[in-house]
Amino acid sequence: MRKICFASNNPKKLEEIRKALEGKLEILSLEELGCREELEETGESLLENAFQKARYVHTNYGIDCFADDTGLEVDALQGAPGVYSGRFAGEPRSDERNVDLLLSKMQGKGNRLARFKTVIALIAGGEEFSFEGEVIGKIATSRTGSGGFGYDPVFVPEGYDRSFAELSLEEKNSISHRGKAVRKLREFLLRA
Ligand code: IMP
Repeated sequence: MRKICFASNNPKKLEEIRKALEGKLEILSLEELGCREELEETGESLLENAFQKARYVHTNYGIDCFADDTGLEVDALQGAPGVYSGRFAGEPRSDERNVDLLLSKMQGKGNRLARFKTVIALIAGGEEFSFEGEVIGKIATSRTGSGGFGYDPVFVPEGYDRSFAELSLEEKNSISHRGKAVRKLREFLLRA
């Protein structure tokens, strides 16, 4: 099976992506390449960050690879935390503190509309490609559910009355930002 690196060590993301590409492509994590460092994300957009990570792996390990970057854009916060979603509450990164901060900033806000965006940067055969996915939803007033990661317990996708953290992985993948971007990546890789 064709091997490709997903430039992440986030076990939840790896699980989501492996499930989406199951039986088609062998996905190697950064750790499996022998890379244990946290890759830099110093760009000003999701696209820049995703390519920064993918290029680092391609340059240093010489393997086809893809990297993703995700941001949560909240209308009432003028699109924040956006590209800074991972370090919204500062360093060291903490999902717990990020969600606490988001809930406190959203206190009393009538407009709770938000969207997750994922950009995937791919370097394959020496060429660069990118794929995007987006899901619209609302920020809940408190956490529900124990699945997923990150902002999942407070993100309720449009058309649902449960948070991402209350959905099964299959359900989340079928509608999520990353699921949509990964399906575009998958179609592309399987055609190539
Ligand atoms: P990154 O793409 O790993 O840099 O993620 C940026 C931020 O968004 C981190 O705080 C993640 O926890 C969060 N995040 C990324 N993907 C998801 C998701 O699918 N659900 C909830 N939070 C996410």
